[in-house]
Amino acid sequence: MENKKPILFDVYPNLEGKVPWISILTGIPSNVDRLTELENHLKLIDGEIYIKRDDKDHKIYGGNKLRKFEFIFGEVLKKKKKGIITLGGIGTNHGAACAIVAKELDLDCELFLSLQPVSWHVQRSLLLFHYFGAKLHFTKMFELGVIKSLLFRMIHPKYYLMSIGGSPLLGFGTHLGTIGFVNAIFELKNQIDEGILPEPDIIFVAAGSTGTAAGLTAGCKLLGLKTKVYPVNVSRDIVVNPKNLIKIANKSIKYLRKRDKSIPDVQVNMGDFKMIKGYLGSNYGVKTVKGQKAVDLVYELEGKKLGFKLETTYTGKTMAAMLEFLEKEENKSKKILFWNTYNSNDLDKYLRETKFEYEKLPKKFHKYFTRKLFQCWQLSDCPEDIRNKCPAYLNHEYRFWKVTNCKLEKNKQSIIKEKLSKVIILEDA
Ligand SMILES: Cc1ncc(COP(=O)(O)O)c(C=O)c1O
Repeated sequence: MENKKPILFDVYPNLEGKVPWISILTGIPSNVDRLTELENHLKLIDGEIYIKRDDKDHKIYGGNKLRKFEFIFGEVLKKKKKGIITLGGIGTNHGAACAIVAKELDLDCELFLSLQPVSWHVQRSLLLFHYFGAKLHFTKMFELGVIKSLLFRMIHPKYYLMSIGGSPLLGFGTHLGTIGFVNAIFELKNQIDEGILPEPDIIFVAAGSTGTAAGLTAGCKLLGLKTKVYPVNVSRDIVVNPKNLIKIANKSIKYLRKRDKSIPDVQVNMGDFKMIKGYLGSNYGVKTVKGQKAVDLVYELEGKKLGFKLETTYTGKTMAAMLEFLEKEENKSKKILFWNTYNSNDLDKYLRETKFEYEKLPKKFHKYFTRKLFQCWQLSDCPEDIRNKCPAYLNHEYRFWKVTNCKLEKNKQSIIKEKLSKVIILEDA
């Protein structure tokens, strides 16, 4: 494993040894790519769009959680815990990342999962949690999951309880994950200094538990950047709100300053970020028309070429907000950085190894596999050799109608499309 010490420790050597940390990331500094096709599509005038490729920051599963985990799992190991407990929806990316890292570190992983809209992403995620050795517990309501996980922790003190998304929940839980994103801004600052990108006017980022956005905002403040963070709310208002962001950001600055007094005595305030609402839809995890359009557009213009895909719960909605922002005349000269928080490594090889044996999961999850089928290949008798070469097979967002040389007979195509239109629901948001 590569051992890339946080830049924060180079800048503030007093932090080393005082802030728990272990090396997990294998792809840092994450690349910054320029999205020129998207710039042309939006007809920007002097405006520039960049993407921070955290989607490949780990060899198995990239994405934002891994940056948090270097610090959180640092504490888990320091405290000599036997395992980790965490929470999320039944399709949680945080849970997937947690299961993968726990396995890598030889720790047990217990996931408390609550209901979210069922989709192919959810089905895939459940199979992968199990594949990577996590033990799954189901609760219909999130609040019940919180209670059950607390009880589990009380009975098993050798386990570390990590709150949802690796961020403090209503003030409870570790701030260490946020430090991962303070450090990420120090990484970005080096890239700015190297001329890889200009200092951005704005960073667009998805906000689910708010730790990522809070860390980025705190990092910009500590370094005195002019950059404003625009967190896009894709989750519950009770967690994603300006007050909570300020609280998390300032507590993480305080945590660092307590360990090194030479860190600037600054406080994040309302002027340092702008929280964006209106892209969530009716609830966490629902697919929206704008989110899906953003996923498709960016894949066609940039993702295909650069090797990343957005998804509809976090990054698609965030991209939708960014696109609407850049459609306005007054924003066409802004320098924008889109922080890509979703994994783009291929997980299909692991998924195939599961042989889709959902029966191996606890019984409570079986109904999420039998009641609804979301993929054209689940509904058709597409032969194995054709499936294996088809870009729609196992894919999150792709269906056969986007595959130009689909081998299904035309009348079968329309029957299946009709069936899928009843289960893949896009909300008008
Ligand atoms: C892909 C993706 N982006 C963004 C987020 C949100 O990050 P945070 O919980 O730190 O707000 C998550 C959280 O699970 C995520 O999975």
